[in-house]
Amino acid sequence: MILSIESSCDDSSIAITEISSARLLFHRKISQESTHSAYGGVVPEIASRLHAQALPEILNEVKFFLEGLDCAKGTHFASSLKAIAVTAEPGLNITLIEGVMMAKTLALSLNLPLIAINHLKGHIYSLFINKKTVVFPLSVLLVSGGHTLIIEAKNSMEMRIIAKSIDDSFGESFDKVAKMLSLPYPGGPIVEKYAQTYNISPTLSNRFLFPIPLKHSKELAFSFSGLKNSVRLAILQHSQREGDQLPQSLIAQICASFQYCACEHLLDKLRKYFDQRAKENKPIKHFSVVGGASANLYLRDQISELCKKFETNLLLPSLEFCSDNAAMIGRAGIDKYIANDFSQIATLQTSPKSIELL
Ligand code: KG4
Ligand code: ZN
Repeated sequence: MILSIESSCDDSSIAITEISSARLLFHRKISQESTHSAYGGVVPEIASRLHAQALPEILNEVKFFLEGLDCAKGTHFASSLKAIAVTAEPGLNITLIEGVMMAKTLALSLNLPLIAINHLKGHIYSLFINKKTVVFPLSVLLVSGGHTLIIEAKNSMEMRIIAKSIDDSFGESFDKVAKMLSLPYPGGPIVEKYAQTYNISPTLSNRFLFPIPLKHSKELAFSFSGLKNSVRLAILQHSQREGDQLPQSLIAQICASFQYCACEHLLDKLRKYFDQRAKENKPIKHFSVVGGASANLYLRDQISELCKKFETNLLLPSLEFCSDNAAMIGRAGIDKYIANDFSQIATLQTSPKSIELL
């Protein structure tokens, strides 16, 4: 079994995964969302302090869980653990350190190998939680609070980023729109909920005319700051004074129009990417959407249509594992364990940027 730890942002999570079957045996996550909501976004110093409280609390539950397992009876509670996996990059440095310090301490005291996991790769492995086999080569749209990427994964080792955002990320733009509308953090789920209550007509005539970013650019890149600014201007236009609460119906119309444009932007670039690959005679066989914002049902529907059109197999993580969690880190850890790809306890460092996946 592998014990895995995730603390790259505002979720403290630990999981236990069986190596031979990839079965998730234990998973617990303590989210800090309600604390950060009061500040309109994640406050790194508070996040770090909360990880320092939550991770040992979960580890204590893990100990009870392991003690209760039949195979551990009569033996030391950690005797069935074979490795410790931990998110080491990218993320907030001072929160990554909390998880990595715990992982190092466990690896050292239990005399187990240490496995460093790249958080972005972790999200890709959210597709394979509880699944013994993985699917490669795979093209991935990763949409989270920190990233908007198209990744081509040849196999578990060789992955490259082929498109990224030049400014804000997809998830971050939902968070910022929510903040401008005085809605709580994280913005994604609540903006999606409001959007679901407003029907944009097939002619699109009843939506706010926010721009579709980079519509006329051939480049495979994403941008959300211009769209976000258009939403800001629309909110200002409809408020008597800055900070005024808008009517619920108007909030719904803004959220639906924003979500439509943000998703249309992703789809526009994905159509280009799919076309490009088809033209190169390398049609995409398997495509996936991962990351916190892959929980967005409108986005899932739209991408599912796109994949049908291109006869591409679509893989989606279960809704439970879209946002940050240690289960995906444990699943990624299995492949590194099998490959004997371990890190040195003394030298493993955290990094706010992605080094393993460029
Ligand atoms: O992957 P994740 O949990 O953390 C990072 O690695 O960043 O992603 C969190 C992001 C937040 O920006 C959140 O607003 C966004 O994912 N998100 C959504 C939805 N659910 C979460 N964005 C759009 N629609 C959603 N339903
Ligand atoms: Zn994430």
